[in-house]
Amino acid sequence: MSKIIQVKDKKFAVSIPEEKIQAEVKRVAAAINRDYAGQEPVFLAVLNGSFVFAADLMREIDIPCEISFVRLASYQGMGTTGEIREIMGLNVDVTGRPVIIVEDIVDTGLTMAHMLDTLKKHNPSSIDICTLLLKPGKLQVSLDVRYCCMEIPNDFIVGYGLDYDGYGRNTKDIYTLCD
Ligand code: IMP
Ligand code: MG
Repeated sequence: MSKIIQVKDKKFAVSIPEEKIQAEVKRVAAAINRDYAGQEPVFLAVLNGSFVFAADLMREIDIPCEISFVRLASYQGMGTTGEIREIMGLNVDVTGRPVIIVEDIVDTGLTMAHMLDTLKKHNPSSIDICTLLLKPGKLQVSLDVRYCCMEIPNDFIVGYGLDYDGYGRNTKDIYTLCD
């Protein structure tokens, strides 16, 4: 019997149960603990979607580290036609330090590509991407995702921090849109 929830006007069915999510988060955290031993990484969790994942991931990290919650903001620069992107909330100096970006889901990959470009201007010693979910079928740019908990099909999902129109973030399982 599959669990169905209603989020606003749509129905979603459980696709990744809590136990599976927690096991994959632990697996990725163990890899980070191993790979970053002796370093002091700065985790940059991208709001809003990654707040639940970041909270679970961090509690499995047992090496010295810092975390900052950031947002990628776009605005039109004065006198230019191009879009300017800034990282809001970056209150840790990442200069010369290893950075691990914590993201909820990589879909087209455009958000992460812009994040990498913008972050490089702050001169970290290295940047790795750690995402809870990846939709390989939607990826539009070449992106090196070092840490990925789970790959999923192209369906729309909610839960465990991810939203549909602002709702549905507050579940322990992940749900897929019913057709
Ligand atoms: P990208 O730039 O296309 O990779 O989009 C990444 C962002 O889109 C994520 O950080 C999410 O906020 C959002 N997103 C992509 N797919 C989904 C989904 O299936 N459910 C909820 N949000 C999604
Ligand atoms: Mg996001």
